[in-house]
Formats: sequence, C-alpha cells, structure tokens
Amino acid sequence: MDRVETEANIEKLAKMAADKKSSATVITIASGKGGVGKTNISANLAICLSAMGKKVVVFDADIGLANLDVIMGVNAKYNLSHFLKGRRSLDEVCTSTASGVDVICGIAGVDGIAEMDEFKRQRLMGELDILAGNYDVIIVDTAAGIGKTVMAFCQAADHTLLVTTPEPTAITDVYILIKAMTARGYQGRTSLLVNMADSADEGRKVYRQIAAAAEQFLNVHLNNAGILTRDSHVGAAVRKREPLVLAYPKCSATQSLLTVAARLSKTPVARDEGFFRKVVNWFF
Ligand SMILES: Nc1ncnc2c1ncn2[C@@H]1O[C@H](COP(=O)(O)OP(=O)(O)OP(=O)(O)O)[C@@H](O)[C@H]1O
Ligand SMILES: [Mg+2]
Repeated sequence: MDRVETEANIEKLAKMAADKKSSATVITIASGKGGVGKTNISANLAICLSAMGKKVVVFDADIGLANLDVIMGVNAKYNLSHFLKGRRSLDEVCTSTASGVDVICGIAGVDGIAEMDEFKRQRLMGELDILAGNYDVIIVDTAAGIGKTVMAFCQAADHTLLVTTPEPTAITDVYILIKAMTARGYQGRTSLLVNMADSADEGRKVYRQIAAAAEQFLNVHLNNAGILTRDSHVGAAVRKREPLVLAYPKCSATQSLLTVAARLSKTPVARDEGFFRKVVNWFF
C-alpha cells in the first residue's frame, strides 16, 4: 500500500469513527420482576431527556403485552406488527408525539416477535440501526423476566437501567438479571433505579444492598440512577392517559425523574458497533 492509499484509508476510518459517534445512545430499561414501573419510567424519562434537548425515540419491546402507547397517551395508527407484516416501513411505524418524543409502539396480543422468521428479524434490526442514526437516545422498554428478547436488548445496550422496588422479590429478580447479564459478558454501563420506595432513605438502603452484593459476588459496578418514592400522581396520570411529567410537572415523581434524566444525559458511553445488529445474534 502506498502513502496516498494509506492516507485515504486513515481518512475513511476517521469518517467511520465520526459516523459511529452520531448514532444514538441505547438505554435499555429492565427489571426482572414485573410491575415495578419500567414503562412509566421509560416514557417519562424519554420526555425529560427530550426537554433537555435530546432527540429521543422510545421502542416498546414488551412483545405481547405492549402498553407504552397508553402511558404516552399515543393513539398510533401503526405498530410493530404492521412493519413485521411488511405493510409499513419502520419509519412509518415511528409515531411523533406532542412531547417531541417519537414512539415505536409494540404488539399487544399473540402476534408477537416469536412469529418472526430470520428474514423479518434481519429486516427489523437493519432498519432500527438506520433509525438510530436520526436520534441522540433510544430508550428500550422491555418485558419483565429474563427471557431471550429481554437479555438481547440488555446485552446490546450502551447503558442498562435496572428498576427495582424495595420488595424482596423484586430485589432477588434484579440480582438474577445482573447475574445473567454478567454470565453473557455484558460490557455496557449498569445503573439501578429504586422505585416506589417509602422514603429516599429506604431507596438508598436498597441501592446500597444490591450494589454491595453485585460488587462482592459478581464484580459488577452498579451506578445509582436515583430513587423514586411512591407517588399517587403516577397512577393518576396513567388513568388520564397522559404522561406523568406533563400532567403533573411539579409532583415528587417528576422531580426525581428529572434528576435521573440529568444524570443519564451526562453519562458518557463508549460505542463499538451497531446496536441492533448485535441484538440479532441474541434472538432465539
Ligand atoms: N413511583 C410510583 N408511585 C406509585 N405508583 C407507581 C410508581 N411507579 C409505578 N407505579 C405504578 O405501578 C404500576 C406498574 O407500572 P408499569 O406498568 O410502569 O410497570 P412495568 O415494570 O412496566 O410493568 P410490566 O413488567 O408489566 O411491564 C402502575 O400501576 C403504575 O401506575
Ligand atoms: Mg411495562
């Protein structure tokens, strides 16, 4: 290779590196136990990050029990099933909302991702990677449990935000999830958000307890994403079908979510390859 060729290749590499930086940071929200607040946190964090100037899309990966649309107050014309059936492009499925956040609504019912063949899966992941180029942040709201789809989205994230409540069952399940991620060689950043605590003090105790166990037994550093205390405004906003942070901008849960979003937006992440292409290898 002569000098001109070498310089041209260096230029190409520099361009590739710059292109990678422009791709979205992927934050996967997961929990182990169900009903701990993942979907409410995904939707509202997305809006807080958008208010902080980030271009955000939320992807509903809770296949079969998708309900992000209800919590975001979105009446989407299309969802993931239209894309999978080849009737719409992912871009068309992506719905803009008044809050400035875009939403990819999931599939509620049996018409789930398990039906996807290899071709459809590749098509979805390819299009998600293209879409990632248009955003600063992609938030992935996952299903409860440690199924393959959840593990795939955790595994491929730049940042996994784990949610627990102070209940012993939620604590055990989140620990099992961290263990499963570690066993699969997860390399990204991991943070813990304690939700529905009776007090900030109780939340901090739960964080310290899980962080200490993760450090001691799994050699995993767990960042403290923040504490959300129990707040009746969360349920009230869901009943109104309006996002909490817009319906009740002054309530304590909104204040805490803004703090969590500020922490997340300042977190540097090291990216390596296309997020969704990595995910392909983890399905099934
Ligand atoms: N901080 C909070 N204070 C009071 N209620 C809350 C709080 N956070 C969440 N909730 C309530 O907890 C319930 C579960 O919330 P959500 O659907 O977001 O959980 P999830 O983890 O996404 O559940 P699933 O595992 O079924 O997807 C809802 O009724 C919601 O209103
Ligand atoms: Mg949910």
